[in-house]
Amino acid sequence: MEASLAERLVSWYREHRRDLPFRRTRDPYAIIVAEVLLQRTRMASGVPYYERFMARFPTVEQLAAAREEEVLKAWEGLGFYGRARNLHRAAKAITAGHRGDVPTNFADLRALPGIGDYTAGAVASIAFGERVPAIDGNAVRVLARVFRLAGDLRRGPARRRLMTIAASLVPASEPGQYNQALMELGATVCHPKAPRCPECPLRTMCGAYINGSPQRYPKTPPRQHIPVVRVAFAVAVRDGKVLLVRRPPRGLLAGLWALPGGELPPKGSTTETLRKVLANLGLSVRLDEVAAPVEHTFSHQRWVGAVYHVSVVGSPRLPESAMWAAAEDLRRLPLVPFHRRLLETRFGASLR
Ligand code: ADE
Repeated sequence: MEASLAERLVSWYREHRRDLPFRRTRDPYAIIVAEVLLQRTRMASGVPYYERFMARFPTVEQLAAAREEEVLKAWEGLGFYGRARNLHRAAKAITAGHRGDVPTNFADLRALPGIGDYTAGAVASIAFGERVPAIDGNAVRVLARVFRLAGDLRRGPARRRLMTIAASLVPASEPGQYNQALMELGATVCHPKAPRCPECPLRTMCGAYINGSPQRYPKTPPRQHIPVVRVAFAVAVRDGKVLLVRRPPRGLLAGLWALPGGELPPKGSTTETLRKVLANLGLSVRLDEVAAPVEHTFSHQRWVGAVYHVSVVGSPRLPESAMWAAAEDLRRLPLVPFHRRLLETRFGASLR
C-alpha cells in the first residue's frame, strides 16, 4: 500500500530534521517558550533568544516570579512584545492555577492567557502526544500546495476548510513529530518562491506539483499599504545620564523604556509636541538641534521623523514612569531597540 502523507512526512523528518535545542527536551514549559518565541520570528534569530531565555528563566516558577521588565529585557530585539507579556501571564496562571504543572491537553492549554490555537496545538502534540494540528505559515503553504487550496487561507471559509483538512491528517501515533515535520518541510524544502520539489517526499501526491504550479499556492493577498506615522523623540542628557520614559502598558512597544516623544498629532508640529510631552513629565526644555533622523518600519506602520537634542531647564522630580538613566541602567533595562542603537552611536559606549 502507498505510504500516507503522514508516514512520508515523518520518515523524511527523521532523516532531515534540524537539530534544535527545543527538540532535545520534553519539558512542556520549554516547548511553550520555543513555540511562542518562534511565532513571527525566524529560526536562525529565534534559537539564540530561546537559549538565553531558558538560561535566564529555566522553570515556569522562575518566569512567573520575574518582574515584567526582566522578561521584556530577555525579549528585547525580538519584536511583538505582546508575546513576552502573554508568556509571562501564562506562566503566572500555570503557577497559580495549576500548581506549577503545565496543563496537559489542548483545551486547558488554550485557556491560558495569550495561548492561541497554534501554540496550544504545538505544545499538546509535541509535549503530550495529543492528536491535534499545529498549523504555522510554513504548514499552510505545504497543505495549500498538496491540496491546491484556493482563496485567502488566513480567514473565512477557505481557512476553515484548510483547518478541517489539517485536523484530519494528524496521525494518532507521534502527532508531535508529524506536526514538526510538516512545518519543517515548509521551512526547508517547500519554499515560497523556489520550492525544492525534487527533494520533497510529498511530490507524487502534491496537486500543485503535479499541475506544474507550486508557486501559485497559497495565493498571497495583495500587500497592505503601511501607513506612515510622523514621530519625534528627544535626547536629553544630564550628568552623563539620559532621560528615558516607560512606554504605556498597552500598544506598540508596551512596557519598554524609550526616549520621550512619540507620534505627532495630525497637524502637530514636532517642537510643540515634544514640548508638551516633556511638560507632562514636569520638565521645561530648550530644544536644540536635530540629532538624527528616525525611520523605522513595524509590521503595520512606518515611523518617520527626527530625534532632537533638548536641554532640560532646572531639576524637577520625575514621575515614576521616567528616569535619568546611567550607562548601567541602559544595559539593564528593556529599551526600544532602535533607541538603543541611537544611544549607542551617540554615547559610543556598548550598552548591551
Ligand atoms: N516553527 C515553530 N515551531 C516549530 C517546530 N517545532 N518545528 C519546526 N518549525 C517550527
